[in-house]
Amino acid sequence: MTLDRDEQRSTARMRDGVLDTHQQIREMTRRLEEAANLVELLAGLQAFRALLVPHFADEEGPDGFFDLVRTATSRHLVDVRQLEREHADLLRDIAALVDRAVACLAGPVAEILKQGGELARRVRDHEARESALLVDALYVDVGGE
Ligand SMILES: [Fe+2]
Repeated sequence: MTLDRDEQRSTARMRDGVLDTHQQIREMTRRLEEAANLVELLAGLQAFRALLVPHFADEEGPDGFFDLVRTATSRHLVDVRQLEREHADLLRDIAALVDRAVACLAGPVAEILKQGGELARRVRDHEARESALLVDALYVDVGGE
């Protein structure tokens, strides 16, 4: 009887923990969807992965979420198997997208930022030469011809 009550408490704690984490994950998915640029997306994906890796491991582990569902009823065995399989796919796809974002930031984005800096320096130099010319023409050459 005591053991049953302990088991019930433990199950309730695990269920609440899973639901809490699912809420956190839901909030993170919104932030990812709203990412305004690659830097924000990359930060979101890395935080996402840091949360999902231990969460999936807990769900898959002994006495985890999947064991709980399998023990409670055999009605969802197919669903549980499918959800378990999706864990690996999701982590693989997140890792691939992180790699692409990193490569893009280090490659094309870094190159465009560099070109932006070079263009800014050219415009600054161009305008500085114009200013120098103007000053020279108006103040140095006044009455010089
Ligand atoms: Fe989950």
